[in-house]
Amino acid sequence: MSRKPEVNAARLLASVADFAAIGATPAGGVNRQALGIEDRAARRLLAERALARGFTVFQDDIANLFIRREGRDASLPPLLIGSHLDSQPTGGRFDGALGTLSAFEVLEALSDAGIETDRAVEVVAFTNEEGSRYSPGCMGSMAFAGVGTLADWEPIHATDGPQLADELAATLAALPEAALRPTGHAISAFVELHIEQGPILEQEDVPIGVVTAVQGTKWLEVVFSGVAAHAGTTPLEFRKDPMGAAAAAIASLQSAVMPADPEARLTVGRITAEPGSINVIPGSVTFTVDIRHPDAAILAAMDQHVRKECEAAGARWDCDVSVSQRVNMAPGRFSPTITGAIEEACKALGLKSRQMVSGAFHDALFVNRIAPTAMIFVPCRHGISHNEAEFVTDTHMISGARVLLNVVEALG
Ligand code: GLV
Ligand code: MN
Ligand code: MN
Ligand code: MN
Repeated sequence: MSRKPEVNAARLLASVADFAAIGATPAGGVNRQALGIEDRAARRLLAERALARGFTVFQDDIANLFIRREGRDASLPPLLIGSHLDSQPTGGRFDGALGTLSAFEVLEALSDAGIETDRAVEVVAFTNEEGSRYSPGCMGSMAFAGVGTLADWEPIHATDGPQLADELAATLAALPEAALRPTGHAISAFVELHIEQGPILEQEDVPIGVVTAVQGTKWLEVVFSGVAAHAGTTPLEFRKDPMGAAAAAIASLQSAVMPADPEARLTVGRITAEPGSINVIPGSVTFTVDIRHPDAAILAAMDQHVRKECEAAGARWDCDVSVSQRVNMAPGRFSPTITGAIEEACKALGLKSRQMVSGAFHDALFVNRIAPTAMIFVPCRHGISHNEAEFVTDTHMISGARVLLNVVEALG
């Protein structure tokens, strides 16, 4: 006999706390970067819990981890729900984990209530969504959607050294109970729950965001090359100072791009100087630029603008400049069928919702290319994310999971 499935709130909250302990930082966040020891430990815990509940566990070539709860008809493609378990180096405990653990709670709630869905429901934890240790982000979902190829990424070195191929092999080997399957299998749809990572839902006091689209992102790497020289003896006219060029370029981009367009985003998040000595004019300076816009044409124009400013700054400081593209994620529009199902679920549960565009990229952006997809957002305090202070109230976590469960009942 089956009964109405219900999210087990205490179990969900305990699960979020259990996973927050894996890679926990003293400031209350997590450092569980892709394919590292902590990431492996989180996968292991999820797999163990899945096996204990009688679900099947498998992983694909890029270590995307799947947990499958069978449905009535094994010939139907499964409904996919989930997110990621990796984090930023100083990440919060909810980014990715909340979506993955809420999805797992949905499977448990279905089993507790003895529900048989028509199709199987699979929970996924995609590999390397963040891209902080190995760039680009969303590698797992890109590979799953056939957008990228593992072979291109295997030689990449982590920010802390090891090559991706080696860390991937170790990660796969750490879960011997998970059968290995080729990357990319048919699914009926994908629903990803995530924290908003921005301030809108909290500001408007709306508990659920129905995500209709994701803005586009480009990651560029800029290298200014000059001549390393003595800080004390080299007069201005003899300097080929790449730090001068970098500072000028960054200052001019910061003052022009975002003030001119409220939808534009530009971030310089990493900068290094070589040789990096206090009394040496650097020989080279490298920095990253993250630019975003919901409109692909405007994003392309922003890319051109960055290149022009860098060339101008290089010329001013007599330095060479190279700008290379590291990531190019086109904006994506989600399926109205799935956003409609999320809105129906909110109505059924008496939860206010609003449609919104995601400023962050997500695995759903790529899965959207191969199956009807949409996202559920829940508010996070002050919109703070990619930060150890990231915080979501228990009530919002539980509401999000309830919406996901309701959507799964409708689509499963
Ligand atoms: C994903 O983490 C992003 O930077 O949007
Ligand atoms: Mn995330
Ligand atoms: Mn993130
Ligand atoms: Mn993200």
